[in-house]
Amino acid sequence: MIINQWYVAAESAEVTRAAPRKVRICGLDFALFRDAEGRAHCVSDVCVHRGASLGEGRVEKGCLECPYHGWLFDGAGNVRRIPSLPAETPIPKRARVDSYPVVERYGWVWVFLGDLPEAERPPLPDFPEYDDHANWRTIRGDWHWKANYARIVENGLDFSHAPFVHPSFGDRNRAEIHDFEVEQDEWSARAKVTYIPPLPKGIWKLMRKERTPVQAQPGFHLSGATMRLDVWLTSSWHMVIFDVNTPVDETTTVTRWIMARNFFRSPLFDGDSRRRVLRIFQQDTVIVEKICPEIVPTDLREELSVKSDGLMNAFRQRRRALIERGWAIDVDTLKHHIDGKRALVIPSPARRESQGRNFVLKTVPLIPAKAPAAAPLATAAE
Ligand code: FES
Ligand SMILES: [Fe+2]
Repeated sequence: MIINQWYVAAESAEVTRAAPRKVRICGLDFALFRDAEGRAHCVSDVCVHRGASLGEGRVEKGCLECPYHGWLFDGAGNVRRIPSLPAETPIPKRARVDSYPVVERYGWVWVFLGDLPEAERPPLPDFPEYDDHANWRTIRGDWHWKANYARIVENGLDFSHAPFVHPSFGDRNRAEIHDFEVEQDEWSARAKVTYIPPLPKGIWKLMRKERTPVQAQPGFHLSGATMRLDVWLTSSWHMVIFDVNTPVDETTTVTRWIMARNFFRSPLFDGDSRRRVLRIFQQDTVIVEKICPEIVPTDLREELSVKSDGLMNAFRQRRRALIERGWAIDVDTLKHHIDGKRALVIPSPARRESQGRNFVLKTVPLIPAKAPAAAPLATAAE
């Protein structure tokens, strides 16, 4: 699990002014809430007074009230009131928790878990179809896995599994993947391939009468551990599955997905579309939850890659570059030496600005950097 990344913490509709929402990401807890203006905030869940869970508290006057002794935290993580002290007593400087940048997009709350200044944060992935209501119909949902999020993203980038895992998509007797180009930039990559699908069934017979080749383009974006799959069922019938994969911890993932289609746009077809998306996740779950080892091996030579794994390997290389920057959480140290003995946090931008002064809690252990911080994520040779 990697810091200095955007992750989706919740559906926007789940974060209200009425009560905070506690979420776990990368093995740590966070409290989300909305202030009086409706802006969403994300703060570290552990109260710096006596360690109570802020996400179990209340929203009061646009601030987050700790459930234990009522300290009141604003969206920037600063304590505004300590009820046990007379009103004129100054608030201690260290009465603050880490607060993380929040952006709402595509109906989700994205949080930046890290301390990079704004100019250095990666962009969010584009999804122009989401707002194009005239031409696209979207449905959305979520899927919960007992699996590592990188394994799940890799599954989505894996061309050669479709004929075996998704029989409605690919044909096991025509499973050869022809050469493809991986198109990539610093944060994302995609590649287009052609499948010969099996004969269509149900309402899909209306649009595809025979085994016409289907174009598919999976891709990833590091922000949100996003997977985007474009499928052109005919020259004009196009669907997109756009999903974000949030690591709850190393072996638990919540996928939030949006499916957009530019055909059968009536809500009458939503049920069928939903069933098809969920069937894909179900088919993948059977395989992905049993992959050994559960996390992608540190030494990539411990798995054998072939040419058709090229897009997956582009993702592996990007992740490797982030790990080499020193941004991977040292989960083993956390598990074996720290769990239950000490509360830790992911560093926030305000912490970096103040060089860690006036923060009570220590930050999570990270796997030491191997590359200079400015090393590019992509190399021309890939
Ligand atoms: S533990 Fe939060 S106010 Fe005391
Ligand atoms: Fe799959």
